[in-house]
Amino acid sequence: MRMFRLALQQQPPFIVRRYPYRDRQRMRDALGPDLARTVTMRADDTPPPETEIGRIFEGSRNIHKLRHYLPIYQGALTQTKRMLEIGVDRGGSLQMWRKYLPDATIVGIDISPKAAQHSAPARDIHVRIGDQTDTRFLQSVLDEFGPFDTVLDDGGHTAKQMIGSFQYLFPRLKPGGVYIVEDVCANYWKMYRDQPESFIDFTKWLMDAMHAPYVETTTVFQFMEGHPKRVKELEVPFAATIIDRIEVLDSVVVVHRAEEPKKLSRAVFR
Ligand SMILES: C[S@@+](CC[C@H](N)C(=O)[O-])C[C@H]1O[C@@H](n2cnc3c(N)ncnc32)[C@H](O)[C@@H]1O
Repeated sequence: MRMFRLALQQQPPFIVRRYPYRDRQRMRDALGPDLARTVTMRADDTPPPETEIGRIFEGSRNIHKLRHYLPIYQGALTQTKRMLEIGVDRGGSLQMWRKYLPDATIVGIDISPKAAQHSAPARDIHVRIGDQTDTRFLQSVLDEFGPFDTVLDDGGHTAKQMIGSFQYLFPRLKPGGVYIVEDVCANYWKMYRDQPESFIDFTKWLMDAMHAPYVETTTVFQFMEGHPKRVKELEVPFAATIIDRIEVLDSVVVVHRAEEPKKLSRAVFR
């Protein structure tokens, strides 16, 4: 399938163990009988709701997106000035961003040297060739074009790739920026599971990290304004100070970086 084309490393041998998704029954058990009840979900070819980005998409070529991503992008790409897309392929999405964000610098990276043909510096579209998990390569892209306020990962779609790029690029995202990971549906397909932990599992770690102050405390009094037990400071992972919010949508995860380092929350009792 073109959309989820698996990136093969340049040098053989390429031997990666693949892991099936094993939690189907655990998921049903956790849902309980009402939510786990089997119902039928159907395909639908009615025209999608109109969005500006959808209109641009309709006129685009050499691009492959799930339709329901378009309004998600429209909601997320509100302040984009410097955008990095991981995964260029046939170049269509770079053209779509060019139209949708006429004043932004658009940067694409891809492991395939063929993608370089889609670089168009005169139109402020730049393509660099390298591996999305190679932090030296990512740093060179950041040095040249960063900091980015928007990163969209539409690269190789294995868990290692999604997590590796996120771990390096999210802490280097501009405050207030957004990091979008697309096609996390691939996490459920054995072909893309190159480790037992998926990006969805990793998202749960991000949720835990966002709640790190509560992991380190035992009672709400430690957050209460004016209370003698109130803590003045806590040691937490850096992630806890920069994750503003996490949106988990169908096949897309959007992580928003806070504008300012986050402070401990404040409880009020009156
Ligand atoms: C799904 S396509 C990108 C599609 C494009 N963004 C679009 O919307 O039309 C995925 C691309 O990721 C690239 N890719 C795969 N593994 C990669 C890696 N490790 N680092 C960088 N790019 C990779 C592939 O070469 C392929 O061109």
